[in-house]
Amino acid sequence: PARVRTRHFQRAKDQGIKITGLTSYDMLTATIFDEAGIDFLLVGDSAGNTVLGYDTTLPVTVDELIPLTRAVAGAAKRALVIADMPFGSYENGPEEALKTALRFMKETGAQAVKLEGGERSHDQIRRIVSAGIPVMGHIGFTPQSEHGLGGHIIQGRGDAFEQLMRDARAVQDAGAFAVVLEMVPADAAARVTAELDIPTIGVGAGPDVSGQLLVWTDFAGLTTGRIPSFVKKYADLRGALTDAVSTFRTEVADGVYPGEEYSYH
Ligand code: KIV
Ligand code: NA
Repeated sequence: PARVRTRHFQRAKDQGIKITGLTSYDMLTATIFDEAGIDFLLVGDSAGNTVLGYDTTLPVTVDELIPLTRAVAGAAKRALVIADMPFGSYENGPEEALKTALRFMKETGAQAVKLEGGERSHDQIRRIVSAGIPVMGHIGFTPQSEHGLGGHIIQGRGDAFEQLMRDARAVQDAGAFAVVLEMVPADAAARVTAELDIPTIGVGAGPDVSGQLLVWTDFAGLTTGRIPSFVKKYADLRGALTDAVSTFRTEVADGVYPGEEYSYH
């Protein structure tokens, strides 16, 4: 299958075809999601929570994400692979942002980068795009600024809508090919989507956006602890793995595994 490219995102929005994305952090899931026809794979800094065991995404570094991104980019044949720029790797200004984006592009095989922030990240996005690197924006709830935002709070409600719209316009003006809207009311996301030319990708943003993205460990029921209320659990991988592990443990303890069938002679 032909590689999904950023221009296909625009075409999808223009034709009213929904875009699908999942996070991925390794070769196995990347292969499965890619073969299932998911349009883009985001190697999110959510790896901090889902892979590295941190409480937030704040400690995640470029050096930690590079090998994960390389694994995903190496496995995906069709899906567009997007490298997430971690906290502290672009806030310092456009040159720092470009340097980080260049590292991901040269060292991983990803085809685009993502960074958080609307108006505040305008110049960073513009600089990266001017170097020929596609950028996905990310506004609404931005986990890297959870302390500044005062926790996991829905963004763009009431009076805050105007700021959300300004952020959306800034990201588009800077040249981003798409923008993630995270944890915003469905009607606000619908208005932003109608206002912008570029596609919007919703994460807890209701149905009236150009596409949907979920953290794969949440959507597949692998995550331990609480998951956001907008996540639909499409599988119970945690239950399935727990059952498999318990059966293995019991069968070994009981001398059932390995029997004749699983032994060399
Ligand atoms: O890191 C991540 O997984 C993300 C998405 C949830 C938007 O940034
Ligand atoms: Na992220």
